[in-house]
Amino acid sequence: MDHLDSVPTRGRTLDYAAGVYDLLEPWVMFGQQSKINAEVIDALNLQKDNRVLDVGCGTGVVTRAIADRLSKKGNGMAMGIDAAGKMILGARKKRGADNCRFETAAAEDLPFEDESFDSAVSTLFFHHIQLDLKKIAFKELFRVLKPGGRLVVCDMHIPETAFGWLVAHTSRWILFQPQIGENIRGVLPGVIEQAGFTPPVLEKTYLGYISLFTSFKP
Ligand SMILES: C[S@@+](CC[C@H](N)C(=O)[O-])C[C@H]1O[C@@H](n2cnc3c(N)ncnc32)[C@H](O)[C@@H]1O
Repeated sequence: MDHLDSVPTRGRTLDYAAGVYDLLEPWVMFGQQSKINAEVIDALNLQKDNRVLDVGCGTGVVTRAIADRLSKKGNGMAMGIDAAGKMILGARKKRGADNCRFETAAAEDLPFEDESFDSAVSTLFFHHIQLDLKKIAFKELFRVLKPGGRLVVCDMHIPETAFGWLVAHTSRWILFQPQIGENIRGVLPGVIEQAGFTPPVLEKTYLGYISLFTSFKP
């Protein structure tokens, strides 16, 4: 298969960047991508047989790294979803495995049953969708997580350093992305809590503007 339809969404999808994303991302993240991803995955506190959802997974780097920590034959499974067909096609080719699957889907309309995942993660995705979709997407995550399920979100947030302020505000204007403006005004913790999760704990901030939050479905 060399084509997969994208899913309609008002979010900013990255079909056009799918071919170069893996080359560019380490540079965009100032060489910190692997370290940040490893700490994001540690924050999930994985058990071998967990079912984990990665929302806005892009080319599936984080999804596959999660799958590699799960059992290969038991119930353990990492599922990555992205609205961009080309991202999912690339993810399947490069990183698909029996316990690592990828599907096209919009975060605001997840094609999964209630309480079907043990934990959920999202890296650098929520600054791609506008506030109303952020609210719906977190409600969807709440719906598909089991009670006690862990939510880990790593995304742009209120800048803490001059460097972070510069990068965050420059990206917002160069990319014409008001969704970034929402993130750097600090909307994420409130929206996560409004969806029903426990108040998010800010675990760490990277590069002065990317924050790691953990929360639970009570
Ligand atoms: C910056 S990338 C992050 C990819 C990956 N999580 C990472 O850390 O490298 C944001 C992704 O969100 C996807 N996206 C945008 N709107 C979406 C939506 N409504 N639902 C699901 N994915 C969406 C884009 O296609 C893109 O692949």
